[in-house]
Amino acid sequence: MSGLDSFRMDGKVALVTGAAGGLGSAIARALADAGASLALSDIDADGARRAAEEIRRRGGRAEHFHHDVTSEQDWHQVIAACGATLGGLDVLVNNAGIETSGLLTEFALVDLQRLQSVNVEAALLGCKHAARLMSVKEGGRGGVIINISSAAALGGAVGMSAYGATKGALRAFSRHAAVELARLGTGIRVNSIYPGFIGTAMGLNNLDEMVALGVQPDREAAEAVILGMQLLPERGEPRDVAAGVLYLASDASRWVTGTELVIDGGLTAA
Ligand SMILES: NC(=O)c1ccc[n+]([C@@H]2O[C@H](COP(=O)([O-])OP(=O)(O)OC[C@H]3O[C@@H](n4cnc5c(N)ncnc54)[C@H](O)[C@@H]3O)[C@@H](O)[C@H]2O)c1
Repeated sequence: MSGLDSFRMDGKVALVTGAAGGLGSAIARALADAGASLALSDIDADGARRAAEEIRRRGGRAEHFHHDVTSEQDWHQVIAACGATLGGLDVLVNNAGIETSGLLTEFALVDLQRLQSVNVEAALLGCKHAARLMSVKEGGRGGVIINISSAAALGGAVGMSAYGATKGALRAFSRHAAVELARLGTGIRVNSIYPGFIGTAMGLNNLDEMVALGVQPDREAAEAVILGMQLLPERGEPRDVAAGVLYLASDASRWVTGTELVIDGGLTAA
């Protein structure tokens, strides 16, 4: 296999969490367009259903699942459903996440715990249950796990310390998972992605939070500061992250594990 063929995903089954919208639905569409069968999961089941319908309209195969990623019971059910309805699991994209800004002197413990639960613990649970199904040592066919971290794991910003800490934890976990799953001969690759500012619901809400914190006068000024820090002038789009996921999910990256793919318009390089 060579060239563009190695990006094809025919015969593969991929589960994308947080797939109702934003980055998740774009990632799911990209994998489906490349030929994968998709499981789209989200705590917003209606949104996941709409995103799955969109993939089917484009000629792809997609199922949707209600899934609170902080619930281990839900992980049991969704992973089992991937096996039962789609014939297994080859790719897990741990994309679901939340963002809460706040000055470190003001943070409420309940907010820290919620960030930790959704952004860190949930991804660990996903890896645990997906790896059991994928591992060649358990009769699986190997696979790929991709964790969506953030540029906030790589550099500092006002109001982002708690969110950045959770994404930094996910970065460290991804490395450990890559080493453990390779050294134990499971046939599973693990990589992580570091998006910069993307204008999804989360990205736009973050701009509003900067205004609420008094860091910026309005949303336009907040975005201008971020774009000014980038090396490339435009705002990132969900498809920019989806393209990176497709690379890491496909055989094009068959010799890549434990790596960190930064997709941020040069934000953290400058
Ligand atoms: N947008 C950005 O600028 C940006 C930058 C860096 C990293 N990220 C990361 O990318 C990922 C996707 O972000 P996005 O911008 O698409 O955000 P978004 O808010 O638009 O979408 C997040 C999705 O996750 C779902 N979700 C939240 N809690 C959940 C739970 N407990 N169980 C299941 N689903 C849940 C939401 O319903 C939503 O559909 C997140 O992990 C985020 O931290 C985003």
